[in-house]
Amino acid sequence: MAEHVRVLLSEKEVDDRIQAIGDQISRDYAGKQVHLVCVLKGGSFFMCELAKRITVPVSLDFMSVSSYGKDTKSSGVVKIVKDLDESIKDKDVLVVEDIVDSGRTLSYLLEMLGDRGPASLRLCTLLDKPERRVVNVKVDYTGFEIPDEFVVGYGLDYDQRYRNLPYIGVVEFDQKEQE
Ligand code: IMP
Ligand code: MG
Repeated sequence: MAEHVRVLLSEKEVDDRIQAIGDQISRDYAGKQVHLVCVLKGGSFFMCELAKRITVPVSLDFMSVSSYGKDTKSSGVVKIVKDLDESIKDKDVLVVEDIVDSGRTLSYLLEMLGDRGPASLRLCTLLDKPERRVVNVKVDYTGFEIPDEFVVGYGLDYDQRYRNLPYIGVVEFDQKEQE
């Protein structure tokens, strides 16, 4: 089936917003070092752009979880595919995500990271779909609140494609050829 991507947030809109969040984070973490924890793979594009705009000292780590496996959607079970390389004890941790949807992934992740004794733990997400929330999650920094549509670009994928788009778009399917 043919598909195309409709632009929801342009490259400039996204970049401007990331700059504003970077400025805010630099102010909020003044005098500290912020330890960014990127949730792979989707959060990677956002984290790199954000990190470049933060002016306080930054360190980085990555983790990978799977939440949207075949049966996990309803069960809320989140599997750690790759854990952090370093301890987060006593660090000012800022988790960087691409999108908060049901909130299941982040709620699990934040609880788990909180148990490891960070000095502080906050969440920054590029996108938020509040209408879809099933589990309550406190988001400290949000790029954009968006409607309940499936989006791609800036790290977000549809079947592993479109992560490289420099903007956020909605995949639309053209007239079905058969059915
Ligand atoms: P949650 O646990 O339901 O909040 O799911 C979060 C994860 O689902 C995100 O990190 C994405 O990987 C994926 N996801 C949710 N909504 C979208 C979307 O619109 N486009 C692409 N991936 C999405
Ligand atoms: Mg993600």
